[in-house]
Amino acid sequence: MRSSSRHMVLLPLLTALCLAGCDEPTDQPLVFNHEAHKEAEVDCSVCHEYFQRATYSGIPTTESCTLCHEGDSQVPALQRLAQYVAAGEEIPWKRLYGVPGHVYYSHRRHVVSAKIACAQCHGAIGELAEPPKYALVDQSMQWCIACHEERNASTDCIHCHR
Ligand code: HEC
Ligand code: HEC
Ligand code: HEC
Ligand code: HEC
Ligand code: HEC
Repeated sequence: MRSSSRHMVLLPLLTALCLAGCDEPTDQPLVFNHEAHKEAEVDCSVCHEYFQRATYSGIPTTESCTLCHEGDSQVPALQRLAQYVAAGEEIPWKRLYGVPGHVYYSHRRHVVSAKIACAQCHGAIGELAEPPKYALVDQSMQWCIACHEERNASTDCIHCHR
């Protein structure tokens, strides 16, 4: 699991940024383009590697971008990527989604077992040409429970608050 720990380094920092509920617009450090990757048929799992087997999905490291992007480019966002790479720095992505520490949530459970599409919980982020300024879905406790009631999943406190 060496690559896993490499990705996980970022998470505590990223999570801390948004738990209060992101009322401020989120400006990402780089104009990442989900749509271009969707058109190029790069699967979500190439960059968000872990949802099939873990509670989290993962945010890609800068190094993983260089698998496909290297060398000079005229595109400003790719020039910016090259600067981070040259400096050996991680891109400080800001988190849009995050549950507080007292809540247990699992991607594997929802994506693999319950077969729920990413867009149902995250909106159309995977098709946007620019990062959204706000979370596209308000993931409140009521939101979780509404779907659990609809899908006959558990609504016992203890399942989500462990
Ligand atoms: C080439 C890499 C790449 C691919 C492919 C990709 N993403 Fe992303 N994704 C990112 C990066 C980088 C960010 C952080 C910047 C941002 O929010 O746009 C991100 C952010 C997100 C977030 C917000 C996470 C948070 O809490 O801030 C969601 C949700 C997401 N992606 C879903 C998807 C889905 C669904 C797909 C497939 C349809 C997908 N992504 C494909 C790289 C990728
Ligand atoms: C599996 C290969 C792959 C990975 C990994 C990947 N990309 Fe891409 N990316 C592409 C392809 C293919 C395109 C569309 C063709 C092009 O513009 O090069 C693209 C396009 C882009 C564009 C849009 C360029 C434009 O013309 O507007 C940006 C910005 C970008 N990628 C940034 C990133 C970042 C940042 C990462 C890491 C988080 C990343 N990519 C990871 C393959 C990849
Ligand atoms: C049932 C709702 C649900 C579904 C389906 C879902 N997510 Fe999430 N996602 C969440 C929640 C809730 C969080 C915040 C979790 C946390 O703080 O640990 C999140 C967080 C994320 C993040 C932030 C980083 C991380 O490591 O978790 C990314 C990226 C992401 N989701 C991508 C995806 C992708 C890609 C898919 C589809 C394969 C997907 N999600 C499906 C609810 C969902
Ligand atoms: C779109 C529907 C949907 C949403 C939204 C959703 N869930 Fe679920 N959840 C399900 C389904 C369906 C299952 C049952 C999966 C199974 O049986 O494998 C489930 C199962 C679970 C479980 C496992 C329960 C157990 O028996 O151990 C937990 C924990 C959980 N969800 C937490 C959450 C949290 C926390 C949120 C909100 C952040 C959330 N869910 C949002 C549909 C959803
Ligand atoms: C399906 C998952 C789920 C179930 C079931 C659930 N919760 Fe929650 N709960 C959450 C999530 C997600 C949050 C965080 C919501 C947010 O940040 O907006 C939360 C937040 C809370 C909070 C903190 C509220 C706050 O304003 O910070 C309390 C207290 C709480 N829940 C109590 C309960 C009790 C009591 C039950 C049982 C009657 C319960 N929860 C059942 C998902 C759940």
